[in-house]
Parts: sequence; structure tokens; C-alpha cells
Amino acid sequence: MIASPVNPPQRLLMGPGPVNADPRVLRAMSAQLVGQYDPTMTAYMNETMELYRGVFRTVNEATLLVDGTSRAGIEAALVSLIAPGDRVLVPVFGRFGHLLREIAERCGAEVHVVEREWGTVFTVAEIEKAIVETRPKLLAIVHGDTSTTLAQPLDDLGAVCAKHGVILYTDATASLGGNEFELDAWGVDVATAGLQKCLGGPSGSAPISLSPRAVDLVNSRRSIEAGIRVDGDEVRAEPIRSNYFDLSQILDYWGPKRLNHHTEATSMLYGARECARLLVDEGMPQAVERHRLHGAAMAVGLTSMGLELFGDQSVRMNNVVGVEIPAGLDGDGARAAMLNDYGIEIGTSFGPLHGRVWRIGIMGYNARRDAVLLTLAALEQVLRRGGASVTAGAGVGGAIDYYGGAA
Ligand SMILES: Cc1ncc(COP(=O)(O)O)c(C=O)c1O
Repeated sequence: MIASPVNPPQRLLMGPGPVNADPRVLRAMSAQLVGQYDPTMTAYMNETMELYRGVFRTVNEATLLVDGTSRAGIEAALVSLIAPGDRVLVPVFGRFGHLLREIAERCGAEVHVVEREWGTVFTVAEIEKAIVETRPKLLAIVHGDTSTTLAQPLDDLGAVCAKHGVILYTDATASLGGNEFELDAWGVDVATAGLQKCLGGPSGSAPISLSPRAVDLVNSRRSIEAGIRVDGDEVRAEPIRSNYFDLSQILDYWGPKRLNHHTEATSMLYGARECARLLVDEGMPQAVERHRLHGAAMAVGLTSMGLELFGDQSVRMNNVVGVEIPAGLDGDGARAAMLNDYGIEIGTSFGPLHGRVWRIGIMGYNARRDAVLLTLAALEQVLRRGGASVTAGAGVGGAIDYYGGAA
């Protein structure tokens, strides 16, 4: 035998994502394949579009999946919206803002960046000032940046962008499903996400929604590839720079034309559809409240242990808590002990926060009371054995009090 069957250990994934998938999503993904134009498949595609309209809170017709991880959705959005030479403004308040900048640069954009210290977010006035100064065609901004655990308020930004004729794109990978997100009400033109955070699935599918004016922009660049092109189809000298992420062709695949662009990742579609079905069934406000409740219980538990939280807590995402590693403690050793002794994964940090902050996720299937209490109990033990002065039971006790006292 060259290799044994896949049989991973049991883990409780309490990092910034991926987290344990909802078993119902995994079951959906194990269903048998159908052909890509089988009426069952095209019906599932249409249902998936409708379900994600509910998740993004939009009536956008162009609500679909891009195959690939969340980054695929980001690349599809940016490469399809940005023509080389376009001006793009990227406000950066964490690692994933740098990713937007990097991708926009690779699309040939003239990228302008404004930066905020990690642990803070922008005011709308700061972003509007940067818009006025740089006059971008597109504003690309992360909603919830897992690297800092903070969420940039977007509710007023759509109106500001509309006033200045700017297209608003946001990366909602880490926030969607666990934090309020109102695509239409906030005037967001394009948003992308992934399954592996609050949506409760594995990574590998990127839900996306585009407003009609974003669709018009993308379609103004449509160029149908040779081999499937028919008389009357557009061919352009300057097509969208990626074929795989060409949203004009992907939209034609998901629309009535059923253009044969790629072979939809059928098992991922089953999973993505189930993620959205579960959320819509629960109710989006209820799902957001579940994340708020368990995220807050985790935060209270950590502070009850005497730990310091990282970043401006007034804009913390519901689903991730950043916590300062106690001085003198071996942070990586403690994470290893959490994993090896308790089977619990918590997250390290990137860039300026590396070695200073752990990130603990409470999201998707793991936004649950038992997951919160188990993590706090294990962390207390690990911290005490590592030499940190933590009162036994303080974290679990604080969280239980927060939940309302019942043990
Ligand atoms: C805000 C944000 N954007 C993008 C990504 C990249 O996602 P993926 O690894 O699924 O491509 C992540 C992953 O953690 C994220 O948190």
C-alpha cells in the first residue's frame, strides 16, 4: 500500500479559519455527480444563486460562485473590473488589504494606498478624503480582516462611492454570515466570500455578487473565447486579462446562455449550496446574533482570565478575537500544547502581530457554547502549565456568567 486512507485526527478548529465544516455540508458534498447541463445541476445552480442573494442580502441577478478559494473570488472581481491603467484606491488596515493591493497591481492598475495602524479601522471621512485626492475608478476594501480581527464599517461607504462615481468592491471572506452585511442597503457593488469561515464549509468555492452597474462594466469588456464563440459574439483586442476569472464568461455560464466556459466544481457547488441553505434557514439576523453571542462569550472568558484583547473592540468582528500572548510565555509552545494535548487549534498572527497575538475564531459550525467553553478550559490549563498566572476556572466561569449563569 502506497498510502493509507485519509483519516485525519479529530480537531476542534478555533483559529481564524478554516473551521470544522458543518457535517450537513460534508454530507451534501459526498452526493454523486451529475452532468454539468443536467437539469438537476442547472436547477441547483439557480437555487444556489437565489440562496446567496439571501446571504449577501441583495436582489442582484449576478450572484454566483467562482470556483477556487476566496482569493479566486477576489481575483475574479478585480481582474474583471480593472483594465490596465485604471486608478484603484485600497485602504489597508491589515494583511488582506495588502492582498487587494497586490492583486490590483498585478491587474495593471495605478494603485493608491492609504494605511491605518493594525488594530484600527478608517473613518468614512478618511476614505472620502482619499477618494477626492486620488479620484479612483474602484475602491477595494476588506470588510472583516482576520489578520487584525477588525471589521471596517461599510454602511456609509456605498453612498460616498456613489457620490464620487466610484465602484465599491469589498472582500467579505471572513465576515459574511457572522456579521451584519447588507450588500444592497450599503450600496456595495461587488462582494466576494469563501466558505471556510462563518459559512461553515470547506475552502474551495467563492460566492460573489455584482450590482447591475458592475455587471455592465464587466460586460463592456466581454470577449468570448475562440472555439465556443458564435456569430455576433464579442471579440476584443484588450480582453479581461484572465480567462479562468473572466466574469463576463462566467456570468454567461451561470446565465441562460449556459456558455461552456469551465466545468463547474460540482461537489463544491453542493457544499456551497448547503452552506447558504443552512444560513438562510436559520435566518441571517439569527446567524449574526449567534456569532455575536459566542464571540462575546469568548472575549469575556479571555478577559476574565486576565488576558488583554487586541485591537479596537468597538469594531471587532463577531467571529474572531485577538488576544495578547502573556509576557514571558512561549506562544508557539502553548499553541502546540493546545493542539497536541486537547486537539484544539487556535491561530497565530502575521506581520507586526506575529508572536504577540493569538487569534481565536468562533465561527460557522463552531460558533457554539460547548466549543467556547472547551477552548477556554484548555487554554487555562495550558497557560498555567506555561507559567502564566491565571486563576483556575476564571475563563470558563466568566463565559458561563456571560451566557446567563446556567452551568
Ligand atoms: C479577509 C480574507 N480575505 C481573503 C482570504 C484568503 O482566502 P483563501 O485562503 O480562501 O483564498 C482570507 C483567508 O483567511 C481572509 O480572511
